[in-house]
Amino acid sequence: LHQGPLAGRHVVVTSGPTHENIDPVRYIANRSSGRQGHAIAAALAALGGRVTLVSGPVAVPDPAGVTVVKIESARDMLAAVEAALPADAAVFAAAVADFRPAEIGTQKIKKVPGAPPPEITLTLNPDILATIAQRQVQRPRLVVGFAAETENVVPHAQQKRLRKGCDWIVANDVSGDVMGGAENAVHLVTESGVEDWPRLPKAEVARRLAARIAETLA
Ligand code: C5P
Repeated sequence: LHQGPLAGRHVVVTSGPTHENIDPVRYIANRSSGRQGHAIAAALAALGGRVTLVSGPVAVPDPAGVTVVKIESARDMLAAVEAALPADAAVFAAAVADFRPAEIGTQKIKKVPGAPPPEITLTLNPDILATIAQRQVQRPRLVVGFAAETENVVPHAQQKRLRKGCDWIVANDVSGDVMGGAENAVHLVTESGVEDWPRLPKAEVARRLAARIAETLA
């Protein structure tokens, strides 16, 4: 273990959804499986990297040879990523909830017969990718984000790269049957241009991305 082109390097990866509590028994979530993020963590470890995987609640198994930090909310994910620094690179593959309930009920919200349903006020979650990419201290040398788009995939990803301040965007074309599936069609958007990768199994996308990260950190 820890032999290979990423030996001596530390990479932080986020994966999975976040859960945002409404009250002690309810939460807001999304359908992210964690498959792509977990595959990236495994591929980085296979190249000898020390990998910290910060994961929301998922059904996929922990990758071998990776330190897994399990969190639920976006705020906990940000805190866990910051606690894992310094890192040479960071890959943000998690589907972080953009919003959370502004207040978390301390008791289960009750259904009151005859009364209208409660209203849930939402507030913005921190953008973990942008926060880490724009750090003044301990910014990882290579910060990689994801973008799922159904149209104008590459232009949107280029704009997102600049807006978030990250180095690369892995742009996901989710117009077909990619969501939740085993394959992924991506474009790698960097400062120097765009690479169109063929439609590949998620594990192969992960291996290629890990290899590119190893090259760049070398
Ligand atoms: O802005 P959008 O959600 O499309 O950006 C997607 C990218 O930003 C992904 O890399 C995702 O992991 C990251 N992200 C994040 N924190 C958020 C929202 C998105 O790290 N609150």
